[in-house]
Amino acid sequence: MRTLADLVLPGSTVALRCDFNVPLDPQGEITDDLRIAGALPTIRALQQAGSRVVILAHLGRPKGEVSSLSLAPVARRLSELLGSTVAFSTNPSGDQRVIDSLKLGEVALLENTRFDPRETSKDPSERAELAAIWAKWADAFVSDGFGVVHREQASVTEFANMLPSAAGLLVARESEVFARLLEGAERPYTVILGGSKVGDKLGVIESLLPKVDSLLIGGGMAYTFLLAMGLEVGDSISQPDFVDTVKGFLTKAEELGVNLMLPVDFVVADRFAPDATTQIVERSNIPAHSMGLDIGPRTRELYSKVIAKSATVVWNGPMGVFEMPAFAGGTLAVAQAMAACPGFTVIGGGDSAAAVRILDVNEQAFDHISTGGGASLEFLEGKELPGLTVLKGK
Ligand code: 3PG
Repeated sequence: MRTLADLVLPGSTVALRCDFNVPLDPQGEITDDLRIAGALPTIRALQQAGSRVVILAHLGRPKGEVSSLSLAPVARRLSELLGSTVAFSTNPSGDQRVIDSLKLGEVALLENTRFDPRETSKDPSERAELAAIWAKWADAFVSDGFGVVHREQASVTEFANMLPSAAGLLVARESEVFARLLEGAERPYTVILGGSKVGDKLGVIESLLPKVDSLLIGGGMAYTFLLAMGLEVGDSISQPDFVDTVKGFLTKAEELGVNLMLPVDFVVADRFAPDATTQIVERSNIPAHSMGLDIGPRTRELYSKVIAKSATVVWNGPMGVFEMPAFAGGTLAVAQAMAACPGFTVIGGGDSAAAVRILDVNEQAFDHISTGGGASLEFLEGKELPGLTVLKGK
């Protein structure tokens, strides 16, 4: 993959694609800036190399202009984190006056690229038309929005083909970590999967099952596994359509000698609410009209022991409804076990990355916290990611 060293940076105007698709609260305040902080090393490297840095990014999935999805709050947060003012252009294709006014080492952010429908157009010629507008003011393109490399969009793929282009430090690091998880992870290798829907993780299970020693299942997806074992799940979330696929995974794990572990106990509640009445039950004893919202204490202990002995651990998806303190214990236990594990530990992005930050687990204790959601899952599925393919070769 081409890197910053392949570009001529001093005196150039660099278009930098970042993933600033950050969560916002109802007042429009940024609630987690992991992705903004993740872009800082590349921005600083470009500044130090003497480039003008013009950042392109998206927020949400707007169809046309939507004021609540403006990147203006991101420009403010980025200015705070960088310790210098980031100019903001309200034009997603770049405002010549803003770009011309940048001195070497200064940074500007353009408005949400998705405000221009050509960014996400299915027609490659429309995407190329938008990229050609950006190419008028840029000398080089740097791709550092790892969270978006699985998308075929103007600011990810077409733009990279139009100018000298390379991966930024974040994309390079994320790619290296995920390539190691996919091929060449040190054993024993443990994968922990959670989250609400097993349907979102079928590809990852399929791809990783032959490579791992242990696969630990938690979160809402565990209940479809229980159905596959013929157990009752009460009102717990499940996807009966996938029961046959899941049965296939159970058989495959046995054939391969993989230690596929399912929760042995759960925290169940009478309703989905922070103040619900809860109890701890064995997995064979989930009462009708109750719902499992977290893995139980025995499961936490069993999973923690496996994690402690692993040389590589990757985790994607919370073990329970961690946003409610009554159901955060399982997610916290897994995060703490990983933080204490001396092996190579990776938080695979999305909700588990948010959980680690919300539950206040020491982030420095992990080898890598990915900024990718869908992109990190697709990487682990072994899919080709178009935003990385365009950065390969001479
Ligand atoms: C993400 O949040 O996973 C990325 O920013 C990609 O966003 P998208 O799924 O809307 O393309």
